Amino acid sequence: MQYRTPLVGALLATFTFACGSPDQNTGAQPSGGNASGGNPVSAAGTAGSMSGAGGAASGAGGGPSAGGGAGGAAAGAAGASAVVVDCTTAPLSLFCLPLGPMPASIKATGLFPKAPDLSQHSASMLEYVPDPPLWSDGMEKQRFLILPTGKKIDNSNAKQWAFPEGTIFVKTFFDDSGAAGASRPIETRLIRAAVGGIYEFFVYQWNADSSDAALVLSDIDGDVNAEIPVPVTIKRMVDGQPFMVNGGQPFMHTLPSRNACGKCHEQNAMVAQTFIGFDELRLNSKLTAASAKTQLQTFADAGVFTMPPPAVPVTITDASNDNGRLLRIKRFVFGNCVHCHNGGGQVDLHPDVFVANTVSQPTMAQSVMPPPGWLRVVPGDPLTSVLYVQMQRTMLPPATGNERLRPMPPVGVADVAADQVALKDVFDWITALPK
Ligand code: HEC
Ligand code: HEC
Repeated sequence: MQYRTPLVGALLATFTFACGSPDQNTGAQPSGGNASGGNPVSAAGTAGSMSGAGGAASGAGGGPSAGGGAGGAAAGAAGASAVVVDCTTAPLSLFCLPLGPMPASIKATGLFPKAPDLSQHSASMLEYVPDPPLWSDGMEKQRFLILPTGKKIDNSNAKQWAFPEGTIFVKTFFDDSGAAGASRPIETRLIRAAVGGIYEFFVYQWNADSSDAALVLSDIDGDVNAEIPVPVTIKRMVDGQPFMVNGGQPFMHTLPSRNACGKCHEQNAMVAQTFIGFDELRLNSKLTAASAKTQLQTFADAGVFTMPPPAVPVTITDASNDNGRLLRIKRFVFGNCVHCHNGGGQVDLHPDVFVANTVSQPTMAQSVMPPPGWLRVVPGDPLTSVLYVQMQRTMLPPATGNERLRPMPPVGVADVAADQVALKDVFDWITALPK
């Protein structure tokens, strides 16, 4: 028996979850857009790295497979027909029960029927790459939006889009510890907009052969502070250059606790939206230099939004004559710091106020007490600049008396895995500031 899935976005495409065999869920990306669907993580190749973001307008930090997602969305809309799921054989699938209990096995969610090939998925899962990206221990990431059937994102408030109940975002993290250095999924995180303005957070941890993943963090029960350390290896080629974290040696990556999710996604006084990375600014980017449209426009054309996006969407600019360095820094800070440093509880590091709020400004934080003479940014001296030293994470001066610094960001990055490209830019920028 076949039901129309309740969880298909405006972007209907053919998707048959046929009798008993999830394998027949082709996950077929509409062919038009699936530029490189073979490797789910090729998209993220440099997405986590500032060098990938590059500060260039077209430097989406995304690769072709992401284009497959967004482009696929458009293609899906073009060739629209009903998405069908057999909910008798896959009763717990998120495509059948979008607001139901989160299955213990990711196989049962219906998200990745062809695991370990995570490039195969339902066409109603819309892939995107936020730009600028979030650095996550140098791992590659793959992200999807799943909208409930017939529902749209209300984008009338440009700063705070409203997502319909049943919206699910899916983000998978990959390292390079597969056979012969291939990428391997480590964890898949989900956030669901549940009924009544509640957001639920989930984490699946992938098994050794990447055939399935187990629910290890469930919003509904469990220890809100439990986090899971997992060894990862980051060692791959990016743009023809070796890219490594921790010298290519294994290090501990942390699957965050429920409370840690909230530190970035929920707990700040001025959080714009719980879904951080799907907004006008971060989608105002082309996936590849060859893309005809921005992701924002692609989604708009596919009918995802209630309103057309502005003719000139927000973007991050900088006029300095420094080969794009300060622009790269503002972009990095936007992608990695502003979800907390948004002018609510913490110092506002938004691009337009970043310089004014840091250069020659004293630290005001309650839990950070730098040594005398230190400022957020001391022109010419990165090593007494709280912003730079905290970003290094390690080599913080030991706490003495009241004095203490905190690694930044406080969650989400292993001590050995700070973004060295970003750090070098910040170091060089502060060094060059006139004293
Ligand atoms: C260090 C801050 C931080 C922590 C901790 C964190 N996230 Fe996020 N998360 C982000 C940022 C920033 C984005 C947007 C950029 C991106 O997609 O990489 C994001 C994106 C996501 C997305 C894609 C939808 C969106 O909001 O953009 C999901 C799903 C997600 N996170 C789930 C989780 C879950 C579940 C946890 C806890 C287990 C968690 N995150 C912990 C910062 C964080
Ligand atoms: C998960 C939320 C979160 C993220 C992400 C985060 N911070 Fe912070 N930051 C904090 C908190 C909390 C404090 C301490 C605030 C207090 O004690 O009042 C802080 C303090 C600071 C301070 C000292 C504040 C001052 O008045 O001088 C600086 C500088 C800073 N962070 C920089 C950064 C940078 C740069 C990033 C991104 C690389 C970042 N932070 C990411 C939460 C965060």
